[in-house]
Amino acid sequence: MDTLFSGMQPTGSMHVGNYLGAIESWVDLQERYRCVYCIVDYHALTGQVEAGAMQPTILEMATWLLACGIDPAKSLLFVQSDVPEHTELGWILSTVTPMGELSRMTQFKEKSKQAELASFVNTGLYTYPILQAADIMLYKAKWVPVGEDQRQHLELTREITRKFNARYGDTFPECQPLIKDDKRARVLGLDGEAKMSKSLDNHLAFTHTADEIKHRVTRTMVSDTQRARLADPGRPEVCNVFTFHGFFSGTEQRADIEAKCRTAQIGCFHCKSALAENVNARLGPIRERAEVLRKRPDDVRDVLRDCGLQVRALAQVTMDEVRSRVGLR
Ligand code: TYM
Repeated sequence: MDTLFSGMQPTGSMHVGNYLGAIESWVDLQERYRCVYCIVDYHALTGQVEAGAMQPTILEMATWLLACGIDPAKSLLFVQSDVPEHTELGWILSTVTPMGELSRMTQFKEKSKQAELASFVNTGLYTYPILQAADIMLYKAKWVPVGEDQRQHLELTREITRKFNARYGDTFPECQPLIKDDKRARVLGLDGEAKMSKSLDNHLAFTHTADEIKHRVTRTMVSDTQRARLADPGRPEVCNVFTFHGFFSGTEQRADIEAKCRTAQIGCFHCKSALAENVNARLGPIRERAEVLRKRPDDVRDVLRDCGLQVRALAQVTMDEVRSRVGLR
């Protein structure tokens, strides 16, 4: 079985963008690959997380991932800092990574703009993609399921792999991104313009209650902006609400909504209410499983610890090889 790796930052609650772009695939792919899933707390430090907030958010993220269907009997789910080899390999890879490539990273440019507002662009934001490459390469992973926003980082991972192999001999496989080939690869936020993200507050979070989801969808979600009155025919092909029906509603209901929207038989409120119901129907069982797990935090911690130990053994084998290749003891 090929190894597959992916990671997620423990920053607040998971949202529908993470879920559709990545986590749904994480769950499905468990049957076909040896999956290694990581809660990347070293990466989260670049966002200047309060020290006291880190452990609760890690536990929260692990709880959601298990509730979504990550199964510890099939996959390894662990916390990055339980395996310090990630940072060791990151350092070694930094010596084969050109600075120019790091400066080109869109995510660095965007995040440093946000950080500039807080008047502190930390170096970790700049070297972030090297640590991400180390995450993947440490397990010699071939496949990496992610959303579209991570494509550039994975291209850089491939380049770092080539540079390492050229200098020290064939050691790592070049990884391949697994990115959805539809609009789930880059789920837009409720504004219908920017990528869904917690920092823009344009998201539907797993922690939102059913009422909050309903309120956010029906009251704040932007639909076809040219449709001013109920009597105007709508244009589902440009409407983000309709796109979301594609994610959450059945074929028949979608066809019905599409036809009635185009002929102005229903208004946007009707369409959004149906969507909110379907989102809640999908999140309901996940919320219930999370609620059960939340009553057994030690079970979640046990999963993370046990998987961390197993993963660390794998990481140490790779690091022995890497140290020997590069001439360290
Ligand atoms: P993170 O924590 O921002 O996001 C986790 C996953 O969710 C995807 N995603 C989205 N997909 C579609 N639409 C959206 N609006 C959306 N928002 C987020 C992300 O693409 C990602 O797959 N750098 C990574 C974490 C990481 C990693 C890795 C990933 C660290 N090391 C190694 C893969 C392999 C990140 O910040 O993801």
